[in-house]
Amino acid sequence: MSQSPAPELFTWEFATDPYPAYAWLREHAPVHRATLPSGVEAWLVTRYGDARQALADQRLSKNPAHHDEPAHAKGKTGIPGERKAELMTHLLNIDPPDHTRLRRLVSKAFTPRRVAEFAPRVQELTDRLIDGFAAKGEADLIHEFAFPLPIYAICDLLGVPREDQDDFRDWAGMMIRHGGGPRGGVARSVKKMRGYLAELIHRKRLEPGDDLISGLIRASDHGEHLTENEAAAMAFILLFAGFETTVNLIGNGVYALLRNPGQRLRLQESLAAGETGLLATGVEELLRYDGPVELATWRFATEPLTLGGQEIRPGDPVLVVLAAADRDPERFAEPDVLDLSRRDNQHLGYGHGIHYCLGAPLARLEGQTALATLLTRLPDLRLGVDPAELRWRGGLIMRGLRTLPVAFTPER
Ligand code: HEM
Repeated sequence: MSQSPAPELFTWEFATDPYPAYAWLREHAPVHRATLPSGVEAWLVTRYGDARQALADQRLSKNPAHHDEPAHAKGKTGIPGERKAELMTHLLNIDPPDHTRLRRLVSKAFTPRRVAEFAPRVQELTDRLIDGFAAKGEADLIHEFAFPLPIYAICDLLGVPREDQDDFRDWAGMMIRHGGGPRGGVARSVKKMRGYLAELIHRKRLEPGDDLISGLIRASDHGEHLTENEAAAMAFILLFAGFETTVNLIGNGVYALLRNPGQRLRLQESLAAGETGLLATGVEELLRYDGPVELATWRFATEPLTLGGQEIRPGDPVLVVLAAADRDPERFAEPDVLDLSRRDNQHLGYGHGIHYCLGAPLARLEGQTALATLLTRLPDLRLGVDPAELRWRGGLIMRGLRTLPVAFTPER
C-alpha cells in the first residue's frame, strides 16, 4: 500500500472536511499525540473500539485538575473549567462519586416524560420560526432557525420567563460566536448569565412552578438536595450542552440532506405518507455521518494506561474523536455513505458511558421536529450558495456551519 503523508490537522481545509485526515489517522496513527492550536499536546483517539473503551475508562478523569499542564501554557489552554469558576463545577467536569450524585438528582427532574410533554411546544416554536422567513423565499437557516430554536426551547423548559429569553439569546450568541474560554465579551456574558440564573433559582425556591429549575430544586435523593450553586451550574450546563450541539444537529443535518438528494427525497416521501420510522433512524444517521460534537470533551489520565498500543502518562489529555470513530469501516458498513435507514447504528454522537448525553431525548425531539417541519413546509428547499462558499466554525470540540443560506418557493 502506498504510504500517504501525514495530514495537517486544524487548518482551514481540515475544518471544512476533516474526514480524509481522520481516515488517515485511524489507519496509520489511531492514538496520535497532536499539538492543538492552543499549543497543548493531547492524544487523539480515532478508532471506534478505542474510542468506546476510552469513553468508559474510569482512569480517564473529567476533572481538569488532573491535567499535567506545562508551566508555559498555564491559563492559556482553553480547557473550560481550569479556572475554578462556580458554574464550571458541572457534570462534564467531575467524576464519581460527585458525578453519580448530581446526575441522579438531575435525572429525577429532567425525565423522558418531561421531554415528551414538551413536544407540542417544540412544534409551536419550530412553526413560529419558519413563519418568520417562509414568505421570503430565502433564509440563513443557522441564524433564523437552528440558532434560536434550541435556546428558546431550553429557556422554556428551565422556566426562564419569555420576556427574558432574548437576553439569553444574546448571551448565548456571544458564547457561540466567540467560543472557547471565558475571556472578554464571553466572560461578561457568562457573568450575566450566572447572575441571572442565581436570581432565578432564588425566586423559584420561594415560588416553585412546573418548570425544570423548580424540579431541580425539589429533586432529592436520600434526603440530599442540590445546593443553589449546584443548581445554577446544572442550569448552565443544560443550556450550554444543549445549545450549540442542537444548532449543529439542525445545520449539519439539513446540509447533509441537501447534498444527498436521493436520501432527502426518500425522507420527504415517508413524511408525506405519515410515517415516522425513517425520520427516527435518519436523525441518528445524521448524527453519525456529520454530528455536532466532533471531539468529546476533555479527559485526563489519572494513572498510566495503554490505549491502542500507546502508553499514556498520568496528566496527559485525551480527546476522543467521535467524528472519526463514527466513520470507522471496522464498525460501520460503507461509513462515508449517508443511509437514513441504517439499522446497525450504535454511533458515539451522544458519547458513551457515565457521561452519555443527558439531553439526548430533547435533542432527538428538536432534531426530528425541525427537520420534518422544514422539509414538509418548504419542500423544494435548496442550498442558496455554492458549497465551496460555506464556512465551518473550526472550534475544537464542535463541528458546525457559520451560516447556511437556503432558497425555496415562498410559502403563501
Ligand atoms: C453530554 C452530545 C444535546 C445535555 C454529551 C456528550 C455528548 C453529547 C457527546 C458527552 C461528552 C463527553 O463524554 O465528553 C450531544 C449532541 C446533542 C446534545 C450531539 C444534540 C444533537 C443536548 C441537549 C442537552 C444536553 C439538548 C440538554 C438540554 C448534556 C449534558 C451532558 C451531555 C448535561 C453531560 C452529561 C454527563 O456528564 O453526565 N452530549 N448533546 N445535550 N449533554 Fe448532550
